[in-house]
Parts: sequence; structure tokens; C-alpha cells
Amino acid sequence: MKTVAPHKHSKIIILDFGSQYTQLIARRIRELQVYSEIVPFDISAPELARLQPNGIILSGGPASVYDKGAPQIDLQIFSLGIPILGICYGLMLMAQHLGGQVEFSGRREFGAGILQITDHSQLFDGLGAQLDVWNSHGDEVTALPQGFRAAARTESSNYAAVEDPARKLYGLQFHPEVAHTPRGKEILQNFVYHICHCAMDWTMGSFIEEASERVRNQVGEAKVVLGLSGGVDSSVTAALLHKAIGDQLTCIFVNNGLLRSREEEMVQRVFGENFHIRLKYVDASERFLFKLRGITDPEQKRKIIGNEFIEVFQHATEELLAEERQDGSDQHDGYRFLAQGTLYPDVIESVAIGGNPAQVIKSHHNVGGLPEKMHFELVEPVRQLFKDEVRQLGLQLGLPKEVVYRQPFPGPGLAVRVLGEVTPERLTILREADTIVTSEMESSDWYYRVWQSFTVLLPVRSVGVMGDQRTYENTIVLRVVESQDGMTADWVRLPFELLARISNRISNEVKGVNRVCYDVSSKPPSTIEWE
Ligand code: XMP
Repeated sequence: MKTVAPHKHSKIIILDFGSQYTQLIARRIRELQVYSEIVPFDISAPELARLQPNGIILSGGPASVYDKGAPQIDLQIFSLGIPILGICYGLMLMAQHLGGQVEFSGRREFGAGILQITDHSQLFDGLGAQLDVWNSHGDEVTALPQGFRAAARTESSNYAAVEDPARKLYGLQFHPEVAHTPRGKEILQNFVYHICHCAMDWTMGSFIEEASERVRNQVGEAKVVLGLSGGVDSSVTAALLHKAIGDQLTCIFVNNGLLRSREEEMVQRVFGENFHIRLKYVDASERFLFKLRGITDPEQKRKIIGNEFIEVFQHATEELLAEERQDGSDQHDGYRFLAQGTLYPDVIESVAIGGNPAQVIKSHHNVGGLPEKMHFELVEPVRQLFKDEVRQLGLQLGLPKEVVYRQPFPGPGLAVRVLGEVTPERLTILREADTIVTSEMESSDWYYRVWQSFTVLLPVRSVGVMGDQRTYENTIVLRVVESQDGMTADWVRLPFELLARISNRISNEVKGVNRVCYDVSSKPPSTIEWE
């Protein structure tokens, strides 16, 4: 496990016991401008001490401390003298191992509850006597370890918050990190600032400086190449690298023929003209569309597109090299470094408890396979950041809001939204429908409120009537979803008037479409994309 935090920062280390909320804890801490990092629960005490954290948080988790194979902690961690906050499962572990008593209540139950603060604790400084909390019952502490005292109770538990201030050990049975505990952020704040004495030194400004320095140290004078997709992650990475190493960076933007309308113009305008980033534009649309001819199987489409991308990208770097050699501008012997917009959630090792991974991390690397194939060394300057931090960084680097708050777009592009065969004609239909949706979502102020809003072209035609004419035309599906991270999603209850306007415009303005459907499926069991 590699840790990336510079040592001079204040730091909270979170031990992950498989809670679905572990990443949320890390984000809450970072919102307090304190660096936080997640490590697997089985980290050893010496390893943990080497990281020099100001404080440690033990996450919740799905297991019961009595389960066979329940995740265990190195008990020496409790004697490091570093403040520890155990949340839910973390509290149970602490109570069990330090000599208290934990009972298995036989069922797991989540729900809202009211916390009564019975005895003063630094954790609750400034919070009054009563708080709404999000509770989690499963195991329950029934007797405290020596040295501990209760600080708060709920209806179902006398030990909903406990502490041993002398040893700086704290425990909460509820989850302070979730939105359902409205003042949880202040509890975490008390822990982080007042108990762990962290300074607010994790800011975007300092991040930019440090990340730039790291990149310069890594690459020296060498050239770096980046596959720019126009999405948030690669765009922010490009802007950051440009600031760090200027013209040592060249971005390659591949038009695979599966882009949204005028995408290539936007990317060239923002990055080439505004940022003056060296940008190589490769129009490979014909190649891609040729390879996709006759292909209807979704997985096959994705494979073809992935492989083709690698070839086109490889060819583009060779061309770049040849151009540079020709105009004598450079004698370097190849691109050794490839930059990628890998984010923190892609990096965190997920913890599987009882074969049931709490966070199945799905990372879509649009340039998947490139590093291995071309023996690139990776430059990943934003791999410490969560998505919201990357957006903040983008704004700070001067990227326009339209880029920074763009909705996600799949690497294989419109190919996975044209169901059945991908042809230029069908792509045109989809692009036109998509443009209408985006413009209506923007003008009604819905675009930035949803996770994604897009259209899908079905491989079925149906009968309609236009004027006095019978039509037999295509069906467009409108898909608008809300989501936190793309892992689960729900369809958005858009106002009927907006749906009506979008539907009317698509069937009136897009030639070849006579029917529009709204997708009312959530994920699971559906996925967001149709292929
Ligand atoms: P699904 O369809 O799996 O999508 O529910 C979840 C999220 O991932 C996006 N997506 C992709 N992103 N390359 C990407 O960069 C891909 O191949 C890919 N497939 C799906 C999708 O748009 C949604 O936001």
C-alpha cells in the first residue's frame, strides 16, 4: 500500500472495516480542510504510526464482532497514544477488546433516533443537549471498559457515545458522517480540531503547489502525453499538468466518431485556444465506424472501441515524435510518461467482509490497457482527490463551469446509446436528440441538478401519424437519473411540462423519430446506460 500524503500536513487516517460510508467519512474530514486517507483495517500499529496521523477513525462495517472471521484490528493501535474515534463497528471493537461487553442484538436495524447528551464530552462541544442522529443497531455495548464513561444515550442504548478522555479514545454508536445526522459534521469537527489538534492545511491552493512539485520531480525534463476526452477528470488533469510543466505536456484528443455534437470544437476551443495547451487532434472517426460496421453486441462494441483507441493513440504519439524530430524542436527518444485522471475512489483498496465487498469500485479508464501495452510510466496528479475536489481544483485552475460540472459521458461514447448497429445515420439522429435534451435541461436549470440526462436510440420502429401520413419511424428513449457516484441511481421526476417540451421538440425536429419514451427504471436492477 502506497501512501501519498505529504508529511507536513495534519492527517486523519481512517481504518476501513467495510462500511458503505467509509469514503463519506474521508470526504467529511477533507471538507474541514484536513487531509484524510483510508487504509485497510488490518494495517499494523507500526505501519500506522509511521504515517504520523493526528487522529485515527475506525469506520463502521457490516460484520458483528462475534462473526467468525470478523475483521480484527492490531490491538497495539489502542496504545499508540493517538486519538481514536470508533464509529459503530469501530466502537464495538474498541469496547470488546478493552474489556467491556458487547452483545449481539440479533438484528441489524438502521433508523433515525434522538441522542440525549448525558454528560459533557468534547465531542459535543457547542451542540446542546439533544441531537438527531442516524442510528445503527446490531451489536450493542452493554458494559464499558475500565476508564470509559458514557456521554450520551439513545432510546435503545445507554452507551450511544462513550469516551476515555485520558487515553483519548472515543466511540459513537451512530454515524456522524451521514446527512441524516445533521450536526454530525460538527461532532467530527470537534474530534478533528479540538481532540486531534489538526490544522486546516488541506486547501486547493496548497494542493496545486505540492502536486505540481511532485510532477516536476517525477518527470524532470521529459515529455508527457495525456489522452484528453473532454470529461472532467482528464480536463482537470490537463490544466494542472499544463500549469506544472507547460509545454512538456501534449494532449491527444481522439475523435472516435462517437462524440456528442460539436464536442471536438469545444475541446479545441477550451484547451487549444484558451489554455494554449499543446493539443493534437486526431480525427479517427472513419476508422472507428468502419470497425463497428455490422456489430450489434454491446460487449463486442466496447472491445472494438477500446482496442482501436489504443492503436490510434499509439500511432498519434509516434506521429508526434516524428513531427518533433522533423522540425528539430526535440531530440527526445519517445514519450515515457502517460498522464491519467485517476481519482481517489479508483485507488482505494476495497475491503470485502464475508465475501461481500462494501464498495465495489468500478473504474472506467478510458485509456485502459495503454500503460501496459506501451510501457508508459503513469503520471496521476489527482489520484488523491475525490470528484468534488477535482471539480474545485478545475475551477481554481480557470476551467469553465461547463467543463467542470459536465455530466459523465461513457468512454465508448454514443456507440453504447445507439442500440443495434452503429451507423452514421443513426448517430446523427441520436446526436440531434441529445442536443435538444441538453439545451432544454440547461435552459430549465435542470442540467446541473441531475447526474446524467441523455437519449438512447432503440433498434425498433413503430407506427405513427404526421399530418395525414402514416409514419414508421424510430424510438428515442430519454434517460435522466440522479446519483451520488454512478453505483446506484434513480430516475428523476422531471416536471411534466419539461418532459412534454423535450418530447415535442425531438419528434418535431429530429427527422426519423416519431416516438419518445421516458425511462423510469432505477439502478439496480437496470444500469444507467443501456449497453
Ligand atoms: P452504468 O451504465 O454501468 O454506468 O450504470 C455507470 C456510470 O458509468 C458511466 N459509464 C462509463 N464511463 N467508460 C466511462 O468512462 C465506460 O465505458 C462507461 N460505461 C458507463 C455511465 O455513463 C454512468 O455514469
